[in-house]
Amino acid sequence: MAKKYNIAVIPGDGIGPEITSSAIEVLVAASSKKDVEIATRELKAGGDAIDSFGIPLPQETIFSAKDSDAVLLGAVGGPKWDEMEPELRPERAILGLRSGLGLYANLRPVVVYDELKDASPLKNPGQVDFVIVRELTGGIYFGKNGVYQSGDRLPDGTVKGKVAFDTESYSEGEINRILKIAFELAMKRRKKLTLVDKANVLVSSRMWRTLASQMSFDYPEVEFDCLYVDNASMQLISRPSSFDVIVTSNMFGDILSDEAGQIAGSIGMLPSASIGAPGTPGLFEPIHGSAPDIAGQNKANPFATILSAAMMMRIMFGEEEIASDIENAVKKTIASGLRTSDITFIGESNNFTLVGTKEITKAVIGNL
Ligand code: IPM
Ligand code: MG
Repeated sequence: MAKKYNIAVIPGDGIGPEITSSAIEVLVAASSKKDVEIATRELKAGGDAIDSFGIPLPQETIFSAKDSDAVLLGAVGGPKWDEMEPELRPERAILGLRSGLGLYANLRPVVVYDELKDASPLKNPGQVDFVIVRELTGGIYFGKNGVYQSGDRLPDGTVKGKVAFDTESYSEGEINRILKIAFELAMKRRKKLTLVDKANVLVSSRMWRTLASQMSFDYPEVEFDCLYVDNASMQLISRPSSFDVIVTSNMFGDILSDEAGQIAGSIGMLPSASIGAPGTPGLFEPIHGSAPDIAGQNKANPFATILSAAMMMRIMFGEEEIASDIENAVKKTIASGLRTSDITFIGESNNFTLVGTKEITKAVIGNL
């Protein structure tokens, strides 16, 4: 075959193995039609790695991920590892991969498919199609933190005791590089960019606002505005279709993207891409978690992971045709009425067939 991409696959925990194997099947089928070869290599992370090696992110996983062309990740975590020390929890693997690979930009597109409008809790969501651009390797997730003993007392005499702290800190460089990604993305879309911050309270947010306003002069065609995060969380519900690109910090992006997942009807529909400097393998994963309650039961919705594989083809390799073939096959499958249980809903007009992960994967491949 003409071209070959080496994909590191990290199935992880819970439904992770089912959804990654579904996405790889679709990816291989779509790519072979375009004479592109997909070579995969499985790596361990999260609970899966804890069970084998006692740590959530083995060096081998980082090395092999860096050595690949791109990484596809399922999900990590589960009740089995909930009692672990913070540093040994499965989630550390995700954070370690993000920082280890320098994946500072997280793109989370949110689309409400016409056929799934009834699955959205919003009465009339309209044409929802926006992208959250979340800063991914800075802010409070990676700032200075700790616990110390204080001898002081509160004004009412209460002993302060131990003090725990996390720090939200951002450098100009970190902010500018993610803003640039967001402005460039807006230029390729409907040319609207919203910065979400908490500039009425936080010093770091004020720096985001200043830098974004400065950069907006370089993009005169982009309609740029700013929202406080509390207000943004309301506006996402009241006027979701008016957003195009939203850029925000690590923690605000984490919170708003779960809210957005609900607008889309199921978080099981939302893919994501995490990208770093040019030449760095990106990491592509569904936004949802490992859903341990349905793991291994052929119930998981693989769409978010399949759509993440499509994002990989478009963003990492410029394989626009393979990406849109996959996306169109997903749309066709939804239009044909097949549903996993998370996207079924009660409604008079709905004529759906409840199927499992394997059946819906087969249908997507058939619709390619
Ligand atoms: C996400 C997840 C992660 C995050 C967790 C698993 C560390 O919630 O990707 O949104 O907080 O970034
Ligand atoms: Mg999250």
